[in-house]
Amino acid sequence: MVDRWVQDHQRDSWRKQAKASGYRARSAFKLKQIHDRHKIIDSEDSVLDVGCHPGGWAQVAVELVGKKGKVVGIDLKSCVPVEGANLLVGDITDPFAQQSVLDAIDTEVIDVIISDISPHITGKWDIDQAVSLMLVADVFDFALPLLKYGGHFVTKLFQGVGVEEMIELVRPHFQTVKRFSPMASRNSSSEVYLVCKFHTPKRGPDWQIRPQFEDALESRKGGPEPLDDVEPVKSTFRIMKKRTPEE
Ligand SMILES: C[S@@+](CC[C@H](N)C(=O)[O-])C[C@H]1O[C@@H](n2cnc3c(N)ncnc32)[C@H](O)[C@@H]1O
Repeated sequence: MVDRWVQDHQRDSWRKQAKASGYRARSAFKLKQIHDRHKIIDSEDSVLDVGCHPGGWAQVAVELVGKKGKVVGIDLKSCVPVEGANLLVGDITDPFAQQSVLDAIDTEVIDVIISDISPHITGKWDIDQAVSLMLVADVFDFALPLLKYGGHFVTKLFQGVGVEEMIELVRPHFQTVKRFSPMASRNSSSEVYLVCKFHTPKRGPDWQIRPQFEDALESRKGGPEPLDDVEPVKSTFRIMKKRTPEE
């Protein structure tokens, strides 16, 4: 009970601070704290903000990149415009929405990708956590080819099954991959941010995260499920009875 009260109180306090500072959501402080610690966005950078509604991260990103920078965001829900950012509506896993992001970026490569994406919460923790990790894998697969050599990538993860596998798959794409829990999200949920710095593009057929992540989860479960539509094969195995002297 006391823990719950403390959590609610802290969340309220970040919400009040966000309102007083002109930010749309307390999540703005999470990005500020990630940036203060890890220095991910420079002035004049181009930034892609995935899962940008209501626009708190976009507001912070616009401040950091300044007038010569560029911020493009995308979310399933439409945002009230943020001056200096181009916030699109669409599903980041949908090729049509992906094309609209590419059109809006309008440069060959992007400097920084920030993703606070979280799926619709059903309340069933293991399902929500698994769906969220698959979504993160999809964001990596769409966005990694756009990220410049040396660029940075920040993504939210929900702690649980598969997080270690995800981190191991992402590691070869960056010089450093670290977990960070900003003050503004501490005690409030099991979310953690993965701060991936200095992109070192991984080439070759196995660069994509999602298929490897699915394989890693399969082998964690002990291999693929048996198929039920396979015809049974007649066994040739027989139990031989030992002959007794009378037989
Ligand atoms: C925690 S909110 C982001 C808050 C945001 N960073 C801010 O500071 O205002 C997570 C967002 O992810 C979005 N989202 C979930 N699935 C998505 C998808 N497939 N494509 C785009 N956005 C998605 C949700 O609509 C939700 O608005």
